[in-house]
Amino acid sequence: MPTKQKPDAIALLKADHRKVEGLFEKFEHTRDDLHKKALVLEICTELSVHATIEEEIFYPARKGEIKEEELLDEAYVEHDGAKVLISELLESGPSVEFYDAKVKVLSEMIKHHVKEEETRSEGLFAQAKAAGLDMVGLAERLDSRKQELLADFKHRSKLPPPETRSFTGHELVQSRPVEEAA
Ligand SMILES: [Fe+2]
Ligand SMILES: [Fe+2]
Repeated sequence: MPTKQKPDAIALLKADHRKVEGLFEKFEHTRDDLHKKALVLEICTELSVHATIEEEIFYPARKGEIKEEELLDEAYVEHDGAKVLISELLESGPSVEFYDAKVKVLSEMIKHHVKEEETRSEGLFAQAKAAGLDMVGLAERLDSRKQELLADFKHRSKLPPPETRSFTGHELVQSRPVEEAA
């Protein structure tokens, strides 16, 4: 009997990317507020879990490869930028001004980030593969942490606030767009 090929870490992370792209695409075609809110919760859950397993397991496994140190630093900053929008979205709703724009900008940020991870030969994933890491072993660790996080989130009344790794929480002054003078 042929043995089923075990997924490798990159296949697992890429599958997450495709899933979230599909959810953003669905959001674009959704007009109903309740449906929008449910989709955004799903997007934020997927992204939170994905960012956590990359930051806890996948990125550290790559640390030390000088060649990609800058790329890795940028990845942490891109994750943290996305987390700001994720927490904004989790604390608001479709009837609030800028909601759709925040979803759109989040999708664009993720698209850029995913490109940096998946780019042929130069991307984070290609470099991980070239470094000869144990991809099947990594996939098992990523998947077990993913299942643990999903189970944890299921028991909460709301998603926990995202944890930043590079942003240090400097103060922002909250204001409003300036209206045109009458
Ligand atoms: Fe990432
Ligand atoms: Fe990723």
